Amino acid sequence: MASVHFVFLLFLFSGGTGPAWAAKVLLMGPSGSHWLNLVYLAEGLIRRGHEVVSLVPSNLYDSQLKALNSPIRQKIRLEKYQVPVEGDVFDRMMQLQVQFSLGDAEDFSAFRFAKMVFDSLDDAVSFGRVECDVLLHNRDLMSRLKAMNFGIVIIDPVTYCGHIVARILKVPLAITATPGIATFHLSQASQVPVPIATYYCHRTGFVQSLKNLANHVMMAMMVSLMTRNIDSLASGALGYQVTFAELSAETDLFLNREDSIVYPPHPLMPNMVQIGGYQVQNASPLPKDLEDFMEASGDAGVVILSFGSYAKAMGRRKAEMVAAGLARVPHKVIWRFQGQRPKNTGENTLLMSWIPQNDLLAHPKTRLFITHCGINAVYEAMFHGVPMVRVPAFAEQHGNSDNLETLGTGVTLDIFTMTSDDLYEAIMEVANNKTYKSAAVRLAQLQRDQPQSPMDRAVWWIEHVIRHGGLPHLKSAARHLSLLQYHLLDVAALLCAAGVVVVLVLWLCCRCCCRCCCRVLCGKKTVAKQKQQ
Ligand SMILES: *[C@@H]1O[C@H](CO)[C@@H](O)[C@H](O)[C@H]1NC(C)=O
Repeated sequence: MASVHFVFLLFLFSGGTGPAWAAKVLLMGPSGSHWLNLVYLAEGLIRRGHEVVSLVPSNLYDSQLKALNSPIRQKIRLEKYQVPVEGDVFDRMMQLQVQFSLGDAEDFSAFRFAKMVFDSLDDAVSFGRVECDVLLHNRDLMSRLKAMNFGIVIIDPVTYCGHIVARILKVPLAITATPGIATFHLSQASQVPVPIATYYCHRTGFVQSLKNLANHVMMAMMVSLMTRNIDSLASGALGYQVTFAELSAETDLFLNREDSIVYPPHPLMPNMVQIGGYQVQNASPLPKDLEDFMEASGDAGVVILSFGSYAKAMGRRKAEMVAAGLARVPHKVIWRFQGQRPKNTGENTLLMSWIPQNDLLAHPKTRLFITHCGINAVYEAMFHGVPMVRVPAFAEQHGNSDNLETLGTGVTLDIFTMTSDDLYEAIMEVANNKTYKSAAVRLAQLQRDQPQSPMDRAVWWIEHVIRHGGLPHLKSAARHLSLLQYHLLDVAALLCAAGVVVVLVLWLCCRCCCRCCCRVLCGKKTVAKQKQQ
């Protein structure tokens, strides 16, 4: 009996530490925060004993290398390939977008700025195509990849080339999608129309509907721009006619970086798994100097400010404004800041070029978080029950902020118009009004109350795909249908035709009968007439 228990315990523990088998996983993504999101996933997979390989263009290597700052992350094997374009095009595009909101408005006219953004987007799109072409024609690399026998390819949606690579390698494909782009995948993969009016925000109403539609149209335009001309590239590389929409619908697994707390509930396919907050980890102790700083804040506590990994684009004037607002609050402040120290920086403010954000948010002295509402920052604050002052800057951050506003976890400031007084008042309001903290704690409790952590869920699903060599049974049968078939127009046409035939036959029968009757009656009449004569 005891030995049975022992074996059972052994089984339990082996389940907790890693699978009995190890697979090879291929990652593909651009730089910056997109790359970081893949690295988080890689950490979860490496902890489970899997081998992770990432394809990186050699010219992005430096910016990507920075994220590999721990022994576990350094286990990601980098497969480099030469791309004939200088510099990090994707990073430049992202920087420019952030500059619009965080930069000083007087630096550019709106028109010039729009043109710059469009040009940079165009550059990034062209670069994506060049990169993909070079990669697919690198026979050496492709045959090396083939020989590695990957169990799955996991891509960021920006790296659409991954669809083709997975097909060439004959390996199942997973996509880690941001909330904004998930709408696109939902409609591609399932043919289910996205409920635009209620998809983007818990709040409903006319203005919100307009915002939602604008958001949706912008996303659709972005995706179609990014995937422009990929059909020919894919068909050429695969040797048969195929469209990007078809490739995209064949994705085995969608790991959506969202949940149904921050985002309104909406329909999902069974191969679409919500992993919002998967990167949040249990807190580690702070370094001694930071811990001392936190403790020295006394009862007032500490305010944490971070505008995310692209915040080095912040303009001088805006930085001075923020510094002045922070200098007035009775709390201590830790500000993730890169660049020249603003003159208005107060005694209470500590500037750091990088912060252990998750550990700081988990600290009991932390009173509130000033954030740009990047989705990862949102989940870290949410997980630790920290109320927020939200200053959304670009992309899906405005949508994240709108949703959080309806959930009552803090107040929102407008990045374009805010003053140092606004910032001061917002901090004081969120720090002193208990409703924000209690709303934040409620969200934390909801988020933690799940049968498995989002990371465990992500890893389980990835292993599930690998174990079964793809999940064709979970893909919507509708992906093979044309619009005409999807809406049953072919069936409707047949039914209509059948109806017409039936009516026609009935009509002919009636006419026939009538004629016969007529003839019989007329015949009788003539007979009668003849008799009378
Ligand atoms: C606290 O905040 C809530 C939500 O914004 C508001 O309804 C309430 O009036 C505030 N309480 C005080 C005392 O300001």
